Amino acid sequence: MKVYFIGAGPGAPDLITLRGARRLGECPLVMYAGSLVPEAVLEHAHPDAECVNTAPLNLDEQVAIYRRAQAQGLDVARVHSGDPAIYGATAEQMRALRSLGIEYEVVPGVSSFTASAAVLGAELTRPGVTQTVILTRASGRASPVPDAENLRGLAAHRASLCVFLGGRQLPQIVTELLEAYPPHTPAALVQRASQPGERRHEATLGTLLTDLTLSDWALTTMLLVSPALGDPGELTEPSRLYDPAYAHRFRRAADGTDS
Ligand SMILES: C[S@@+](CC[C@H](N)C(=O)[O-])C[C@H]1O[C@@H](n2cnc3c(N)ncnc32)[C@H](O)[C@@H]1O
Repeated sequence: MKVYFIGAGPGAPDLITLRGARRLGECPLVMYAGSLVPEAVLEHAHPDAECVNTAPLNLDEQVAIYRRAQAQGLDVARVHSGDPAIYGATAEQMRALRSLGIEYEVVPGVSSFTASAAVLGAELTRPGVTQTVILTRASGRASPVPDAENLRGLAAHRASLCVFLGGRQLPQIVTELLEAYPPHTPAALVQRASQPGERRHEATLGTLLTDLTLSDWALTTMLLVSPALGDPGELTEPSRLYDPAYAHRFRRAADGTDS
């Protein structure tokens, strides 16, 4: 008996990995975070699988299901949105599984921050602009962000910044970010990336919230702020990777020289 933590991806059923879909189809018991994982993703589950929505369950109640599966010898597909390694509350489940002597395996998924960048058609690591992506979240009652990781400090890097779970705190978040990013820094909100109802709002950080109905963006929203989100036509320094004069291990330069 084994538990598979499976990244469901951002919501579109065809954005789960092949491995994730296969494991999901093999497990007789499926536990999924119904607050974020659309039921459409469960099309990959076995038709006879028991599917349990964990949204209303506390950790003890979830562990009770793992115990039952252990007693019955049932493999479990534990389906989390995006990638399970990011804000998935998986560490506490893994600790419980270890103490029960239950083996587990993680199948990674497409995180909503890359799905959101895809919606925007953007590269978050544009050469000559920024080479760093910071993932953070709005501080929450359940999981406060440590003081040392405050938004002002993160913004000081002026890198690409992806803020998860911030839909309800956008005014406060934007105010803090403006203490370090210039107001003309490109910024975007992407909601329900890859799902029906997907939408985006692109502006600068200084104007992002102008004329926005905040309550419309409270849920399933990613905030991206980055100098790299601007028009790629403004690219100042192309990557040397595809430069004809640049040779590397897998390609000679156009003039025939090796790396
Ligand atoms: C609990 S976190 C889970 C993140 C997930 N593990 C991941 O890798 O994307 C939930 C937050 O992820 C973001 N999110 C999840 N799915 C999204 C989507 N389809 N579009 C935009 N943001 C999404 C939102 O910021 C949401 O509040």
